[in-house]
Formats: sequence, C-alpha cells, structure tokens
Amino acid sequence: MNYFDNLRTLYNNPIEIKGFKQLNKKGLFPEEEILIKKHLKPGKKVLVIGCGAGRECFVLAEMGFEVVGVDISKEMVAAAKKLSEKKKLNIKFFESNILDFDYKKESFDYVLMLEQMYNLIPFKKNRLLLLKKVRFLLKKNGLFIFSAYSKLYFHLIFPYLFVKFPQNLIRNLFSSKDKLMHLQQSKYSFSNPKPLSRIKLLKRFFGKVYYALKLFLREPIFLFKNIYRLIQKIIFKKRAVLEPGDLIGNPSLFCKNESLKVVFKYFSPKQITEKIVESDFKLVRYYSRDELLENKRFMGKIFTDINYYVAEKF
Ligand SMILES: C[S@@+](CC[C@H](N)C(=O)[O-])C[C@H]1O[C@@H](n2cnc3c(N)ncnc32)[C@H](O)[C@@H]1O
Repeated sequence: MNYFDNLRTLYNNPIEIKGFKQLNKKGLFPEEEILIKKHLKPGKKVLVIGCGAGRECFVLAEMGFEVVGVDISKEMVAAAKKLSEKKKLNIKFFESNILDFDYKKESFDYVLMLEQMYNLIPFKKNRLLLLKKVRFLLKKNGLFIFSAYSKLYFHLIFPYLFVKFPQNLIRNLFSSKDKLMHLQQSKYSFSNPKPLSRIKLLKRFFGKVYYALKLFLREPIFLFKNIYRLIQKIIFKKRAVLEPGDLIGNPSLFCKNESLKVVFKYFSPKQITEKIVESDFKLVRYYSRDELLENKRFMGKIFTDINYYVAEKF
C-alpha cells in the first residue's frame, strides 16, 4: 500500500464521511469567505481539490460559480454527489488523486485547495507535480488559492509558549460564551477528535467555564504533543522521517484510526512561496488567518497556524 492508498482508506471511513457531512453545514469558514470574495469573481469556472463531502463546492455553486470537485476518496465523492443532487446543484464531481486527474488543459479560472490539503501531499516531488498539474489545468492569469499549516507556529515552541499561549488565555478569559464556542469549533485540534454533539451534557452544566477551560487546556496539550513529536523525530529518526521534516501521523479531524498512518508535513511560508515561484507561478499574496479575519495580534503574521496563498499562472 502506498501513502495515497492510506489517504484513500482513511477518508473512505464512514466516521470521516459523517464528520465532513456535518462540516458541510458550516459552509465556508469566515476567513475562506473573505478570501474568496476578495479574489474570485462569480460566473467563472472553479476546481475544488480535495472537495470532501462538498462543503466549498456547494457554497461556490450557490454563489454562481461553475464548479468541479475532485477527491481521492470514492465515498466522499459519492456523498458529495448525493447531497448535490438533493440541493439541485449542477456540480461535477470526480474521484481521482489530483496528481492523476485527467482533465482538459486550461479549463479553470480558479483552483481552490483548502483545509490544508497541501500538508497531506507526501514527498517534495509530488508537491511539485501538484503545482505542475494545477498550472496545466488553469487558464492564463488563473488563480491557485490554497492553505497550509505553518511550520513556524507548530515548531517554534518558545514563541508559542510565551506569546501565543498568554495571548489566547487573556482573550479567552474576556470572551463571550458564543465567541468561545466559535473558536472551539473553528480551530483544528489534534487533541480533540470528538464532535461537540457528544458532550452536550457537559456543555449544559458547565457552559462558559467548560469552554474556557477546554481552550485553556488545549494549548499546553498541543505544546506537549509537539515536544513528544520532536522527541519521536529525533529518537526514531529512521521510522518517523521519510524526508527531512516529514511526520507520520493521523491528521484526521474525526476518526482516530491509529493503524492508518499518513505523511504530514508543515512548511514555513518561505518554503511554500519559493515552491510557487519555482513552479512558474506569480505569488500574488499570502495571508495569515488572523490577517484575513482582521484580528490584530502581536507578530500575527509569524505566529499563525494557517496561511492562505494566492498564486497566479502567467
Ligand atoms: C481535510 S479534507 C477536506 C474536505 C473538504 N475540502 C472540506 O473542507 O470539507 C481533505 C480531503 O482531501 C482529499 N484528498 C487528500 N489527498 C488527496 C489527493 N491527493 N487528491 C485528491 N483528494 C485528496 C481527502 O480524501 C479528503 O476528502
């Protein structure tokens, strides 16, 4: 089994499908909506890579885009097709690894690849192939918009401990319950794979205190997980590292299938922007998530978990 087979198996899992169908209900995340409204003009043709159960596709179709979705998981595509029919939307879905996606040259005005799928493409040569494929599919001056987890945030433990952690703590203590719930739901967390619905009882009894405590505890858990990963990386170098910086783990939001390991890698914005330029794209801009949301934070551009990149084919 190669790494793409692992990914396919992981995302074919019914728990994953259920989770992503749930996520569909949220529509676009606020930062995605801002980004899309800033750079995309409705009426144009857009490809969504890693479309999952159709979350971004549905909103884009409703906004007036001509939408095509592609996903490596057969079950995700089946779920997306079914929901699309139910919503009476005219979206084409394809089951394919994006690297093998067979579609006419220069078909799209925009290619979107959100939810940090970039971090899931194993090996440098494949990431270059991906950029080449996207270039092939885009029309001239077409845009490739994608997001990736930042290495700076996840690997720089000290800034995290002394800057981000106190910042979050202060913010959480002074936030309303609604804001905390929103943060809880919108943030990706490796340590909290349970959907919120399962903890309704706790929610009812502890309300705001529960959310504040959970967010408070998540930061140190994250920190210790990162230290653990670092130790693993050093001690089990041969087993854990495929290429420098690669991690083997389970990046899934919903199902914790420990036996299915996939390769996951964080990148600094410099590494990604260099790849973009190397692949004959023009870097239009990159944003940290806080920047898009207009959250003013000390050194917000560096201490961000996710960055969004906008690249233009010339
Ligand atoms: C984190 S999910 C995001 C789903 C959807 N974009 C959303 O936000 O609801 C990532 C998706 O990418 C798909 N995927 C991963 N690697 C892929 C590849 N090489 N080619 C196509 N799809 C891929 C997975 O099957 C999965 O459905």
